[in-house]
Amino acid sequence: MVSAVCFANRRHDTILCERDLEKAEFIRTGRPPFFEPNLEGLLRKTIDTGKLQVSTRINNAVLNSWITFVAVGTPSKSDGSIDLTSIETSSAEIGESLRGKEGYHLVVIRSTVTPGTTENLVKPTIEKQSGKKAGEDFGLAMQPEFLREGSAIEDTLSPDRIVIGEYDKRSGDVLHRLYLDFYKDESPPILRMNLASAEMVKYASNAFLTTKISFINQVANLCEKVKAVDIVKVADAIGLDERIGRKFLNAGVGFGGSCLGKDLRAFISFSRLLGYTPDIFEAVLDFNEKQARHVVDLAEGELGCLKGRVIAVLGLSFKPNTDDVRDSPSIRIINELLKEGASLVVYDPRAIENARLILGENVRYADSALECLSDTDCCIVATEWGEFRRLSPQDFSERMRKPLLIDGRRIFDPEVYGKNLRYIAVGLGPSR
Ligand code: UGA
Repeated sequence: MVSAVCFANRRHDTILCERDLEKAEFIRTGRPPFFEPNLEGLLRKTIDTGKLQVSTRINNAVLNSWITFVAVGTPSKSDGSIDLTSIETSSAEIGESLRGKEGYHLVVIRSTVTPGTTENLVKPTIEKQSGKKAGEDFGLAMQPEFLREGSAIEDTLSPDRIVIGEYDKRSGDVLHRLYLDFYKDESPPILRMNLASAEMVKYASNAFLTTKISFINQVANLCEKVKAVDIVKVADAIGLDERIGRKFLNAGVGFGGSCLGKDLRAFISFSRLLGYTPDIFEAVLDFNEKQARHVVDLAEGELGCLKGRVIAVLGLSFKPNTDDVRDSPSIRIINELLKEGASLVVYDPRAIENARLILGENVRYADSALECLSDTDCCIVATEWGEFRRLSPQDFSERMRKPLLIDGRRIFDPEVYGKNLRYIAVGLGPSR
């Protein structure tokens, strides 16, 4: 969706193919089916200029274009391994469409797929259905996606790098030229390699990010045991080492979202299939699952038994600036609190509707952050939305029964909030 809108915005004639009729209709009328900053405005613009068309038929899209980007979902199976069904069915349909098409066509896999998938599944499927040959009649490339939800457009317009995995030189050249034209004088580094290496880059990249987050969370948990040590100061200092870097060193409630955990599971399963035990990745995954419990333990440490306690949870989405609650650490925390018998009031600026589909009526939904705090025994900040940062110590103390604030995302200054409230935070050692 974001790639299509960005291509169309840079005046490429773009056809967005969406099989879900309801979603397609939404998009056709300029409404994105999910929240992403700046997407709606850009979508409307590209629909109005006619540069973006929406189709529900792959055949129509393939026949009327010369490059096809495949961005279908690659979810987890119940054992954590990758489910390639959508890759296979879309490849088959692209192949069928290519059978009746004259001239060269390039197929680019953008979905996250385990190394070997483009060569061993996509290529033979397209060849079989089209009766054509990769490298001769059609091109094949794999370009991993690195955008983040919440800053997807910005990440697409100014990425750190473009990685092109190519089946043959011509395929790579076509894609390379497209991006040189797209980015003009502001082209990021463009790295070219074979298909499987590009597929590996994506998993290695996400696995590194999860390892970095888990690393800092582990140090943070240790900081809590040492008088007056603060993980934010520690992260700032180690992050200035250019070999380490400050990004992704924000300690908190663990990573979530539809990608990092799913990709790590698929990477582990892929590795095990090859007969190799990826100890580091397994430890990262296990540790991350426990971090939500760690935050609940902080509440229990202060309040004792949580049964019957009224707890406010601020933030439901897995990160700010999105309405996505898939694998959200906040939902993990809420489920742990419910298990302990706590009574919950929750609030999120964007994600309440999606959260309701998971949590149902097991929690009470507030209309604002301030309402969420009223008459509660404890407040847990689970997502660092900008509007939560503006809450003052008085906002908590005036509304809560017991002003106990657990800062799971380190958005408040301990010096200020610690004076007026019982302030506990991930990675903050005891003051006395
Ligand atoms: C992630 C990667 O960052 C993208 O590069 C990748 O393209 C994408 O997955 C994907 O595979 O599609 P995303 O899941 O949208 O992007 O969001 P992130 O910004 O990576 O955040 C993921 C989780 O890590 C969030 O729950 C966030 O709160 C947490 N996080 C992130 C931390 O706990 N600490 C940090 O320092 C950074």
